[in-house]
Amino acid sequence: MAPMSQRVKVAVVGVGNNVSALVQGIALHRATGSLVGIRRPVLDGLGVGDVDFVAAFAVSPEKIGSDLCEAIFRPPNNFPRLTSELPPAGVAVRRGLTGSDPGEVERVAGDLAGAEVVLYAAPSGRPETARAYAEAALRAGAAFINTTSDAVARDPRLLDRYAAAGLPLLGDDLASQFGTSVVHHALLRLLEERGLTLTSSYQVNLGGTEDFRNLVTSSNTKHQSKLNALGADGSAAGRVEMAPLGYLPHLASHKVAHINIEAQAWGETSVSVDVKLKVHDPSGAAGVNIDLIRIAASALRQHRPGYPAEATPLLKSPPGTPV
Ligand SMILES: NC(=O)c1ccc[n+]([C@@H]2O[C@H](COP(=O)([O-])OP(=O)(O)OC[C@H]3O[C@@H](n4cnc5c(N)ncnc54)[C@H](O)[C@@H]3O)[C@@H](O)[C@H]2O)c1
Repeated sequence: MAPMSQRVKVAVVGVGNNVSALVQGIALHRATGSLVGIRRPVLDGLGVGDVDFVAAFAVSPEKIGSDLCEAIFRPPNNFPRLTSELPPAGVAVRRGLTGSDPGEVERVAGDLAGAEVVLYAAPSGRPETARAYAEAALRAGAAFINTTSDAVARDPRLLDRYAAAGLPLLGDDLASQFGTSVVHHALLRLLEERGLTLTSSYQVNLGGTEDFRNLVTSSNTKHQSKLNALGADGSAAGRVEMAPLGYLPHLASHKVAHINIEAQAWGETSVSVDVKLKVHDPSGAAGVNIDLIRIAASALRQHRPGYPAEATPLLKSPPGTPV
């Protein structure tokens, strides 16, 4: 592990399931050295254990004031406990932003002092809140990662302001480590590479997390972002459909996805592919967030402002994709 002084100082916004998976996974790696599920053990000289949490923001009274490592187990979070030994983070969760009031943005910017990277992991479908936090991070001189489907890095004016301030801006919407988007995209690409013709395709996603509950009940920006992840503006345009997301509480932190692909092969004969995928959704996010954090820190430290292109494979909707 790097000396304390070189470790990445991260602030998290939203103390939900994804932050629980991230905080616990780092603790497990530190305690046991396990490299299971880790894509890049070392990225630009930074190990998985070289990430320290220095601030956290939430809106629910049950979490505000608690140590981060206690708050991650408060309902409605339902990601399981990974390790019986989780030392306190030494970081008390603070009250987050609920609007874009300039005084509140200033307060949060003050609370972000010392953070190098802000990981934005609040619910998707609230673009104004996302931009208010991005504004606070900009004022605090921190890099910003937008893991939600709301347009932040796809806002050219905001991206220009980050670049002018010498700060990295990463987003939008993380692509889970081994989730529906990457598996579906890989299958569609394989079909094309092998010379088959896509007839139709669909994706069904069911989950039992708060994220799913939020996405099915509030209007959001997820649908377009999921299409962006498939590159559906290319040859698959108009042939891929997304079923509305389904919230099934008994699935808890599991996501169950069904991918169907209908195609034609030699002699116009039919080919049908059906895949069922079952994953812990927050783990898929944490496995990518650990890399996005290190990419952001490295870009900040190497004075590479704006959007770092190496983040693209980890995102559904990088700058330039439709909003
Ligand atoms: N595989 C994945 O899980 C995945 C993939 C892509 C994107 N995402 C996105 O990542 C984000 C986080 O996912 P999650 O499963 O942790 O969601 P979650 O609902 O478990 O956590 C979000 C947390 O943010 C809190 N919050 C709400 N408003 C806030 C505010 N104004 N300030 C601070 N906190 C606030 C909520 O109370 C909740 O605790 C979501 O936007 C989700 O769509 C997740």
